[in-house]
Amino acid sequence: MTTASPKTFRIKSFGCQMNVYDGERMAELLDASGMTSAPDGEDADLVVLNTCHIREKAAEKAYSEVGRLRREDGSKPLVALAGCVAQAEGAEAKRRSPMIDMVVGPQAYHRLAEMLAEAARGARPVDTDMPAISKFDALPPRRRASPSSFLSVQEGCDKFCTYCVVPYTRGAEISRPWKDIVAEARALVDCGAREIVLLGQNVNAWSEGGRGLSDLIRALANTDGLERIRYTTSHPADMTDELIAAHGEVGKLMPYLHLPVQSGSNRILKAMNRSHTAETYLAILEKVRAARPDVALSGDFIVGFPGETEEDFTATLNLVDEVRYASAYSFKYSARPGTPAATMEEQIASEIMDDRLQRLQARINAHQAAFNRASVGQETEVLIERKGKYRGQMIGRSPWLQSVHVETEAAPGDIVPVTLTAAGPNSMTGALRTAEAA
Ligand code: 5AD
Ligand code: SF4
Repeated sequence: MTTASPKTFRIKSFGCQMNVYDGERMAELLDASGMTSAPDGEDADLVVLNTCHIREKAAEKAYSEVGRLRREDGSKPLVALAGCVAQAEGAEAKRRSPMIDMVVGPQAYHRLAEMLAEAARGARPVDTDMPAISKFDALPPRRRASPSSFLSVQEGCDKFCTYCVVPYTRGAEISRPWKDIVAEARALVDCGAREIVLLGQNVNAWSEGGRGLSDLIRALANTDGLERIRYTTSHPADMTDELIAAHGEVGKLMPYLHLPVQSGSNRILKAMNRSHTAETYLAILEKVRAARPDVALSGDFIVGFPGETEEDFTATLNLVDEVRYASAYSFKYSARPGTPAATMEEQIASEIMDDRLQRLQARINAHQAAFNRASVGQETEVLIERKGKYRGQMIGRSPWLQSVHVETEAAPGDIVPVTLTAAGPNSMTGALRTAEAA
């Protein structure tokens, strides 16, 4: 039996930060329709699984998550499959799992309340439309914020990298209107945000009437009460000189850039339909470093793209050494149905991918550790985000996005002066700089 009219809900988001953002918006929408978030550890009447489709395991994880929602007494909550698996699978998801009561894509979730009413009447609605009118207009205003809050400014992708499902699941590149973004930023700051992370699958492709992301960042920097701005994820092709200049000129823009390269081999980059080469990518980073010498660089890598030889992979390792990333994400290539790479010859054996992934991650970790070690002694500021494990310990972020543990009475949302005193592989320790000590 499913609950006819659910009163409590739980939203589980997988995958990228865009999904985290969508999950927050869905929560606000369900709140506004009179439901409440289920307390931790308690069953919810409605569970929304906000899924990711970018790699195979993520989708499998979502389906097994659906299965786990069956309760011990055999009953189940109402189950909404949302996000990119919902978009890609559509009605097929209902066939694959009879537990799923509704399927709602990333451009249709403003209809969630309506769909719930349909589900309560026994239908199993599916909405994977990508309407031209933005869903954002149909969502309630922001009422909650974290010290660091996400703000979606751009969605979709027109780049069609040959391995990637995003152009199919999230549709064409669209930019949200300037005035809506500025208003949402204001609302988030009024709810307590000190940092805003501008989000988009190709966030640096944001544009409106000749204005680009750098103009938007400069305007947002005038928001009183907003102290920090970040943006993610960017494509090298859209890394304009104006945006690079903003890194040197806008104090609130944090010294951090996530710029995926995917491979260090030009042959593979071409097969991936990336529009850059290793050399043009490195030239962009050089310009960014010239504008902001302390910038922390991050990226994404895929190992085992079809046809990748040991030589191609070595080029990737060399590029990692050349950039000296402060952090980076690396993935085993996963053939996504419907993408051009899925049917390319010379698919790489899983064991070879495992081996390359391990070697790449070891290299990335070494650079990350070196970056963290080099930060020891820095006097900087930390935006406190949450409590740590121990009494009196708080966890926040440095400007370079390092996680910093610090003993302080400061609360989430405070920005405190800190000296970085020790480096771990994944986080830093900081000591509060008091007026006396300074
Ligand atoms: N297989 C493995 N990794 C992928 N990514 C995107 N598509 C795939 C795929 N088919 C990675 C890319 C991208 C990140 C979000 O996920 O590195 O930048
Ligand atoms: Fe996917 Fe490439 Fe678009 Fe990124 S730029 S979302 S990897 S197609």
